[in-house]
Amino acid sequence: MPAIRIRHVLITDDRGDALATYLAARRSDLDCRVRTASTLTESDPQWADALVAFATPVALKGSSIRWVHSTGAGVDALLGTTRWPDQVTLTRTTGALGARMAEYCVGHALAMTQRIRQFHRDQRAGRWAPIEPVMLKGTTALIIGTGSVGSAIATQFDALGCSTIGVSRSGLPTPPFNHVHPVERLTNSVSEAHWLILAAPLTHETRGLVGVTVLAGCQGTVVINVARGGLLDTTALLDALDTGRVTGAVLDVFDTEPLPADSPLWRTQGVVITPHVAGVTHVEEAGTAFLTALTHLESGRWPPSAVDPNRGY
Ligand code: GLV
Repeated sequence: MPAIRIRHVLITDDRGDALATYLAARRSDLDCRVRTASTLTESDPQWADALVAFATPVALKGSSIRWVHSTGAGVDALLGTTRWPDQVTLTRTTGALGARMAEYCVGHALAMTQRIRQFHRDQRAGRWAPIEPVMLKGTTALIIGTGSVGSAIATQFDALGCSTIGVSRSGLPTPPFNHVHPVERLTNSVSEAHWLILAAPLTHETRGLVGVTVLAGCQGTVVINVARGGLLDTTALLDALDTGRVTGAVLDVFDTEPLPADSPLWRTQGVVITPHVAGVTHVEEAGTAFLTALTHLESGRWPPSAVDPNRGY
């Protein structure tokens, strides 16, 4: 690829000021302009060579932007629904996201097997009510997505003595998963799962993937979603919780964020809600990933963090 020169960097991430400070301290030749959704002007995309963002939609067509760097691992909100311009490179930040999400998943799974919430309630009520915790060891985690995040989650469940089944497009064996099934087998595979963990990017192929059909195959499964709300059909989840096919749900991501106050999820028994915190990217990680990709682009090399906009990851 031809080398590109980047001077003007438009930053629309929520932590834009901190990112601009991080970049300026390391590359004084970069001119960073921080904008929010409300301060972004029509001339900003005409000024910028590069955009650093998580979700704010910026019209790329007709702009001077040749590179977009995502401060997150998921690029669905940047890709949007319009065709991605061929001349614009898209890169992303992965950082320690997998390790963080893995601790989140294991932490919530253990909170359930150890009945931590129940014992908190009992303590507050001054109630002595023994219920034997069950072991996480020996249970099966079915993880949708066998990329860096899914693999990190599998590693932690494996370390605790669980079986891990990955679900991917190809179904090809991928360490550290004990088995990998192709996505076509998801509905059959789900009956084996104690934990159904969503860790795949949101693309046109994964949108609504976990819906009525897949959830109908669950047999007392706990669903953990650290991917994107769009992978999981909320109405189907509520029905599956109602029938007991799904016995619990740990949800960190939602179709609309913040989760609206009138969402029934807030009040549904067995649902744990967290505000999109399972895999927060730190400013230094986003900054380092940007600078690494910049070095590649400036020397005409394809950055390893590049995303295929057609595939969506
Ligand atoms: C978080 O949601 C990310 O995509 O990094």
